[in-house]
Amino acid sequence: MSQTQFTPRVFSGIQPSGGLTLGNYLGAIKRFVDMQDAGGFETIYCMVDLHAITVWQEPEALRRNTRELAAGFIASGIDPAKSILINQSQVPEHAQLGWIFNCVARMGWMSRMTQFKDKAGKNAEKASLGLFGYPALMAADILVYHATHVPVGEDQKQHLELTRDIAAKFNHDYGVDFFPLTEPVIEGAATRVMSLRDGSKKMSKSDPSDASRINMTDDADAIAKKIRKAKTDPDALPSEAAGLEDRPEARNLVNIFAALSDLSVDDVLAEMGGQQFGSFKPMLAELAVEKLSPISAEMARLMDDPAEIDRILARGAAQAREITAPILKKTYEIVGMVGSD
Ligand code: TRP
Repeated sequence: MSQTQFTPRVFSGIQPSGGLTLGNYLGAIKRFVDMQDAGGFETIYCMVDLHAITVWQEPEALRRNTRELAAGFIASGIDPAKSILINQSQVPEHAQLGWIFNCVARMGWMSRMTQFKDKAGKNAEKASLGLFGYPALMAADILVYHATHVPVGEDQKQHLELTRDIAAKFNHDYGVDFFPLTEPVIEGAATRVMSLRDGSKKMSKSDPSDASRINMTDDADAIAKKIRKAKTDPDALPSEAAGLEDRPEARNLVNIFAALSDLSVDDVLAEMGGQQFGSFKPMLAELAVEKLSPISAEMARLMDDPAEIDRILARGAAQAREITAPILKKTYEIVGMVGSD
Protein backbone atom coordinates (compact mmCIF):
# COMPACT_ATOMS: atom_id res chain seq x y z
CA MET A 1 0.00 0.00 0.00
CA SER A 2 1.40 3.44 -0.85
CA GLN A 3 2.25 5.64 2.11
CA THR A 4 -0.08 8.63 2.33
CA GLN A 5 1.67 11.98 2.77
CA PHE A 6 0.16 13.94 5.63
CA THR A 7 0.42 17.73 6.03
CA PRO A 8 2.81 18.51 8.92
CA ARG A 9 0.36 19.46 11.63
CA VAL A 10 0.84 19.98 15.36
CA PHE A 11 -1.99 19.44 17.83
CA SER A 12 -1.91 19.68 21.59
CA GLY A 13 -4.36 20.23 24.40
CA ILE A 14 -4.50 21.31 28.01
CA GLN A 15 -7.34 20.68 30.45
CA PRO A 16 -9.09 23.84 31.68
CA SER A 17 -9.43 22.42 35.17
CA GLY A 18 -7.86 25.17 37.26
CA GLY A 19 -5.20 27.85 37.43
CA LEU A 20 -2.19 27.97 35.11
CA THR A 21 1.25 27.47 36.63
CA LEU A 22 4.81 28.18 35.57
CA GLY A 23 4.95 24.44 34.86
CA ASN A 24 2.20 24.71 32.24
CA TYR A 25 3.89 27.75 30.76
CA LEU A 26 7.46 26.43 30.45
CA GLY A 27 6.54 22.78 29.92
CA ALA A 28 3.75 23.29 27.42
CA ILE A 29 2.58 26.72 26.31
CA LYS A 30 6.02 28.22 25.65
CA ARG A 31 6.89 25.17 23.53
CA PHE A 32 3.59 25.53 21.67
CA VAL A 33 4.53 29.14 20.89
CA ASP A 34 7.97 28.05 19.67
CA MET A 35 6.41 25.47 17.34
CA GLN A 36 3.95 28.06 16.05
CA ASP A 37 6.73 30.56 15.36
CA ALA A 38 9.15 28.05 13.85
CA GLY A 39 6.89 27.65 10.82
CA GLY A 40 6.72 24.47 8.76
CA PHE A 41 3.71 23.21 10.72
CA GLU A 42 0.08 24.11 10.99
CA THR A 43 -0.52 24.47 14.72
CA ILE A 44 -3.76 23.74 16.54
CA TYR A 45 -4.09 24.23 20.29
CA CYS A 46 -7.08 23.18 22.33
CA MET A 47 -8.68 23.67 25.72
CA VAL A 48 -9.99 20.15 26.33
CA ASP A 49 -13.17 20.98 28.23
CA LEU A 50 -14.77 17.61 27.40
CA HIS A 51 -11.81 15.89 29.02
CA ALA A 52 -12.06 18.13 32.09
CA ILE A 53 -15.57 16.88 32.94
CA THR A 54 -14.36 13.28 33.28
CA VAL A 55 -14.07 14.43 36.89
CA TRP A 56 -16.60 16.82 38.44
CA GLN A 57 -16.30 20.50 37.43
CA GLU A 58 -18.49 23.31 38.71
CA PRO A 59 -20.07 24.73 35.53
CA GLU A 60 -19.22 28.36 36.31
CA ALA A 61 -15.66 27.46 37.26
CA LEU A 62 -15.25 25.42 34.07
CA ARG A 63 -16.39 28.36 31.96
CA ARG A 64 -14.03 30.73 33.78
CA ASN A 65 -11.10 28.30 33.63
CA THR A 66 -11.61 27.72 29.91
CA ARG A 67 -11.54 31.46 29.22
CA GLU A 68 -8.58 31.95 31.56
CA LEU A 69 -6.62 29.22 29.81
CA ALA A 70 -7.42 30.82 26.45
CA ALA A 71 -6.21 34.15 27.86
CA GLY A 72 -3.04 32.41 29.07
CA PHE A 73 -2.38 30.95 25.63
CA ILE A 74 -2.88 34.30 23.90
CA ALA A 75 -0.94 36.32 26.48
CA SER A 76 1.96 33.87 26.14
CA GLY A 77 2.19 34.38 22.40
CA ILE A 78 -0.25 31.98 20.76
CA ASP A 79 -1.47 34.16 17.91
CA PRO A 80 -4.96 33.33 16.62
CA ALA A 81 -3.79 34.58 13.21
CA LYS A 82 -1.05 31.93 13.12
CA SER A 83 -2.53 29.04 15.15
CA ILE A 84 -6.02 27.65 15.45
CA LEU A 85 -7.10 28.12 19.08
CA ILE A 86 -10.20 26.25 20.16
CA ASN A 87 -12.16 24.78 23.01
CA GLN A 88 -12.86 21.13 22.30
CA SER A 89 -16.63 21.14 22.82
CA GLN A 90 -17.13 23.76 20.14
CA VAL A 91 -15.74 21.41 17.47
CA PRO A 92 -18.22 18.52 17.64
CA GLU A 93 -16.16 16.22 15.40
CA HIS A 94 -13.84 15.51 18.36
CA ALA A 95 -16.62 13.78 20.28
CA GLN A 96 -18.04 12.15 17.15
CA LEU A 97 -14.73 10.56 16.18
CA GLY A 98 -14.25 9.76 19.87
CA TRP A 99 -17.27 7.47 19.66
CA ILE A 100 -15.88 5.63 16.63
CA PHE A 101 -12.62 5.16 18.53
CA ASN A 102 -14.50 3.80 21.55
CA CYS A 103 -15.43 1.02 19.17
CA VAL A 104 -11.86 0.55 17.91
CA ALA A 105 -9.97 0.61 21.21
CA ARG A 106 -10.04 -2.63 23.22
CA MET A 107 -10.97 -2.94 26.91
CA GLY A 108 -7.61 -4.58 27.52
CA TRP A 109 -5.69 -1.62 26.09
CA MET A 110 -7.68 0.85 28.13
CA SER A 111 -7.30 -1.03 31.38
CA ARG A 112 -3.52 -0.83 31.05
CA MET A 113 -3.55 2.99 31.07
CA THR A 114 -1.57 4.04 34.12
CA GLN A 115 -3.14 7.51 34.28
CA PHE A 116 -6.59 6.00 34.76
CA LYS A 117 -5.28 3.80 37.56
CA ASP A 118 -3.58 6.80 39.19
CA LYS A 119 -6.61 9.06 38.87
CA ALA A 120 -9.28 6.53 39.75
CA GLY A 121 -7.19 5.02 42.56
CA LYS A 122 -8.84 2.44 44.76
CA ASN A 123 -12.22 3.85 43.90
CA ALA A 124 -12.33 2.73 40.26
CA GLU A 125 -15.94 1.57 40.71
CA LYS A 126 -16.97 5.16 41.34
CA ALA A 127 -14.92 6.69 38.52
CA SER A 128 -16.87 7.96 35.52
CA LEU A 129 -17.01 5.89 32.36
CA GLY A 130 -15.62 9.01 30.67
CA LEU A 131 -12.45 8.85 32.77
CA PHE A 132 -11.89 5.29 31.57
CA GLY A 133 -12.55 6.24 27.95
CA TYR A 134 -10.55 9.48 28.17
CA PRO A 135 -7.60 8.27 26.01
CA ALA A 136 -9.88 7.28 23.11
CA LEU A 137 -11.24 10.84 23.02
CA MET A 138 -7.67 12.12 23.18
CA ALA A 139 -6.82 9.96 20.17
CA ALA A 140 -9.80 11.52 18.39
CA ASP A 141 -8.61 15.06 19.28
CA ILE A 142 -5.37 14.30 17.48
CA LEU A 143 -6.53 12.15 14.59
CA VAL A 144 -9.56 14.25 13.64
CA TYR A 145 -6.90 16.69 12.31
CA HIS A 146 -4.62 13.96 10.94
CA ALA A 147 -2.07 15.62 13.24
CA THR A 148 1.47 14.38 12.69
CA HIS A 149 3.17 15.77 15.82
CA VAL A 150 1.93 16.16 19.38
CA PRO A 151 3.99 17.98 22.01
CA VAL A 152 3.17 16.53 25.44
CA GLY A 153 4.71 15.75 28.81
CA GLU A 154 6.29 12.41 29.63
CA ASP A 155 3.10 11.44 31.52
CA GLN A 156 1.16 11.42 28.24
CA LYS A 157 3.49 9.10 26.36
CA GLN A 158 1.33 6.05 26.95
CA HIS A 159 -1.74 7.89 25.63
CA LEU A 160 0.19 8.75 22.46
CA GLU A 161 1.13 5.10 22.00
CA LEU A 162 -2.54 4.21 22.35
CA THR A 163 -3.35 6.84 19.72
CA ARG A 164 -0.99 5.08 17.32
CA ASP A 165 -2.50 1.70 18.20
CA ILE A 166 -5.99 3.03 17.46
CA ALA A 167 -4.87 4.55 14.14
CA ALA A 168 -3.11 1.32 13.13
CA LYS A 169 -6.06 -0.89 14.08
CA PHE A 170 -8.53 1.34 12.25
CA ASN A 171 -6.34 1.39 9.13
CA HIS A 172 -5.87 -2.38 9.34
CA ASP A 173 -9.49 -3.33 10.07
CA TYR A 174 -10.89 -1.20 7.26
CA GLY A 175 -8.00 -1.84 4.87
CA VAL A 176 -7.16 1.85 4.47
CA ASP A 177 -4.21 4.15 5.01
CA PHE A 178 -6.32 6.93 6.42
CA PHE A 179 -5.01 7.91 9.86
CA PRO A 180 -1.35 8.85 10.37
CA LEU A 181 0.81 7.27 13.06
CA THR A 182 1.36 10.43 15.06
CA GLU A 183 4.76 11.22 16.57
CA PRO A 184 4.93 12.31 20.17
CA VAL A 185 7.27 15.24 20.86
CA ILE A 186 8.07 14.56 24.49
CA GLU A 187 9.23 17.44 26.68
CA GLY A 188 12.80 17.13 27.91
CA ALA A 189 13.83 17.25 31.56
CA ALA A 190 14.91 20.84 30.94
CA THR A 191 11.35 22.04 30.55
CA ARG A 192 9.81 19.85 33.24
CA VAL A 193 9.19 22.18 36.15
CA MET A 194 9.14 20.58 39.58
CA SER A 195 7.53 21.64 42.86
CA LEU A 196 9.38 24.39 44.74
CA ARG A 197 8.92 22.36 47.93
CA ASP A 198 9.95 18.92 46.63
CA GLY A 199 12.21 18.55 43.61
CA SER A 200 10.97 15.01 42.92
CA LYS A 201 7.34 16.06 42.32
CA LYS A 202 5.99 17.88 39.29
CA MET A 203 4.80 21.45 39.90
CA SER A 204 1.03 21.07 40.02
CA LYS A 205 -2.06 23.21 40.40
CA SER A 206 -3.51 20.49 42.63
CA ASP A 207 -0.69 20.49 45.22
CA PRO A 208 -2.28 21.59 48.52
CA SER A 209 0.66 23.96 49.17
CA ASP A 210 0.45 27.18 47.15
CA ALA A 211 4.14 27.76 47.99
CA SER A 212 4.98 24.72 45.84
CA ARG A 213 4.09 26.51 42.62
CA ILE A 214 4.21 29.80 40.78
CA ASN A 215 0.80 30.66 39.39
CA MET A 216 0.64 32.69 36.20
CA THR A 217 -1.57 35.12 38.09
CA ASP A 218 0.85 35.63 41.04
CA ASP A 219 2.06 39.20 41.50
CA ALA A 220 5.73 40.20 41.72
CA ASP A 221 5.81 40.00 45.52
CA ALA A 222 4.31 36.52 45.61
CA ILE A 223 6.74 35.27 42.95
CA ALA A 224 9.77 36.71 44.77
CA LYS A 225 8.61 35.29 48.10
CA LYS A 226 8.00 31.79 46.74
CA ILE A 227 11.41 31.70 45.06
CA ARG A 228 13.13 33.01 48.21
CA LYS A 229 11.45 30.23 50.22
CA ALA A 230 12.02 27.50 47.62
CA LYS A 231 13.69 24.42 49.02
CA THR A 232 17.41 24.15 48.16
CA ASP A 233 20.55 22.59 49.60
CA PRO A 234 23.45 24.38 51.33
CA ASP A 235 25.97 23.98 48.50
CA ALA A 236 26.97 26.55 45.93
CA LEU A 237 25.94 26.17 42.28
CA PRO A 238 28.23 23.86 40.28
CA SER A 239 29.83 25.13 37.10
CA GLU A 240 28.38 22.45 34.85
CA ALA A 241 25.14 20.47 34.53
CA ALA A 242 26.63 17.17 35.74
CA GLY A 243 27.08 18.76 39.18
CA LEU A 244 23.27 18.98 39.59
CA GLU A 245 22.62 15.28 39.23
CA ASP A 246 21.73 14.40 42.82
CA ARG A 247 20.41 17.84 43.68
CA PRO A 248 16.81 17.88 42.41
CA GLU A 249 15.82 21.20 44.02
CA ALA A 250 18.95 22.99 42.83
CA ARG A 251 18.52 21.52 39.39
CA ASN A 252 14.91 22.67 39.24
CA LEU A 253 15.77 26.29 39.99
CA VAL A 254 18.60 26.27 37.45
CA ASN A 255 16.29 24.65 34.86
CA ILE A 256 13.70 27.36 35.47
CA PHE A 257 16.35 30.05 35.06
CA ALA A 258 17.60 28.46 31.84
CA ALA A 259 14.11 28.01 30.36
CA LEU A 260 13.02 31.55 31.22
CA SER A 261 16.16 33.04 29.70
CA ASP A 262 16.24 30.68 26.67
CA LEU A 263 19.74 29.50 27.61
CA SER A 264 21.08 25.99 28.14
CA VAL A 265 21.73 24.81 31.69
CA ASP A 266 25.45 24.68 30.91
CA ASP A 267 25.42 28.29 29.73
CA VAL A 268 23.67 29.38 32.91
CA LEU A 269 26.14 27.48 35.09
CA ALA A 270 29.15 28.72 33.16
CA GLU A 271 28.12 32.15 34.30
CA MET A 272 26.63 31.41 37.73
CA GLY A 273 28.74 28.48 38.94
CA GLY A 274 30.16 29.06 42.42
CA GLN A 275 27.29 31.34 43.53
CA GLN A 276 25.27 30.64 46.65
CA PHE A 277 21.49 30.43 46.54
CA GLY A 278 21.40 33.63 48.57
CA SER A 279 22.53 35.51 45.49
CA PHE A 280 21.08 33.23 42.78
CA LYS A 281 17.51 33.29 44.09
CA PRO A 282 17.05 37.09 43.84
CA MET A 283 18.31 36.96 40.25
CA LEU A 284 15.89 34.14 39.46
CA ALA A 285 13.06 36.07 41.10
CA GLU A 286 13.86 39.15 39.07
CA LEU A 287 13.99 37.17 35.84
CA ALA A 288 10.71 35.39 36.63
CA VAL A 289 8.94 38.66 37.39
CA GLU A 290 10.35 40.25 34.23
CA LYS A 291 9.11 37.37 32.04
CA LEU A 292 5.82 36.59 33.77
CA SER A 293 4.39 39.98 34.70
CA PRO A 294 3.69 41.05 31.11
CA ILE A 295 1.88 37.73 30.61
CA SER A 296 -0.21 38.03 33.74
CA ALA A 297 -1.03 41.67 32.95
CA GLU A 298 -2.20 40.67 29.46
CA MET A 299 -4.21 37.77 30.90
CA ALA A 300 -5.95 40.15 33.28
CA ARG A 301 -6.72 42.53 30.44
CA LEU A 302 -8.18 39.75 28.31
CA MET A 303 -10.21 38.38 31.23
CA ASP A 304 -11.83 41.81 31.52
CA ASP A 305 -13.30 41.25 28.05
CA PRO A 306 -14.58 37.66 27.97
CA ALA A 307 -16.69 38.43 24.90
CA GLU A 308 -13.49 39.02 22.92
CA ILE A 309 -12.12 35.65 24.09
CA ASP A 310 -15.38 33.99 23.06
CA ARG A 311 -15.16 35.59 19.61
CA ILE A 312 -11.61 34.28 19.16
CA LEU A 313 -12.70 30.77 20.16
CA ALA A 314 -15.71 30.88 17.84
CA ARG A 315 -13.45 31.86 14.94
CA GLY A 316 -11.01 29.10 15.89
CA ALA A 317 -13.83 26.55 15.90
CA ALA A 318 -14.96 27.61 12.42
CA GLN A 319 -11.40 27.24 11.09
CA ALA A 320 -10.97 23.91 12.84
CA ARG A 321 -14.16 22.50 11.37
CA GLU A 322 -12.88 23.13 7.86
CA ILE A 323 -10.32 20.44 8.68
CA THR A 324 -12.33 18.15 10.94
CA ALA A 325 -15.66 17.96 9.08
CA PRO A 326 -14.21 16.37 5.90
CA ILE A 327 -12.07 13.95 7.95
CA LEU A 328 -15.07 12.86 10.01
CA LYS A 329 -17.23 12.53 6.89
CA LYS A 330 -14.64 10.32 5.23
CA THR A 331 -14.33 8.26 8.43
CA TYR A 332 -18.09 7.69 8.48
CA GLU A 333 -17.95 6.59 4.84
CA ILE A 334 -15.12 4.16 5.54
CA VAL A 335 -17.02 2.71 8.50
CA GLY A 336 -20.23 2.28 6.51
CA MET A 337 -22.55 4.96 7.85
CA VAL A 338 -25.28 6.01 5.43
CA GLY A 339 -25.37 9.76 4.87
CA SER A 340 -26.25 12.33 2.24
CA ASP A 341 -23.49 14.40 0.75
N1 TRP B 1 -4.38 14.29 28.30
C1 TRP B 1 -3.70 15.56 28.18
C2 TRP B 1 -3.22 15.99 29.56
O1 TRP B 1 -3.84 15.67 30.55
C3 TRP B 1 -4.61 16.62 27.59
C4 TRP B 1 -5.02 16.27 26.20
C5 TRP B 1 -6.28 15.91 25.79
C6 TRP B 1 -4.19 16.26 25.07
N2 TRP B 1 -6.29 15.68 24.47
C7 TRP B 1 -5.04 15.88 23.98
C8 TRP B 1 -2.84 16.51 24.86
C9 TRP B 1 -4.52 15.73 22.69
C10 TRP B 1 -2.34 16.36 23.57
C11 TRP B 1 -3.17 15.98 22.50
O2 TRP B 1 -2.24 16.69 29.65
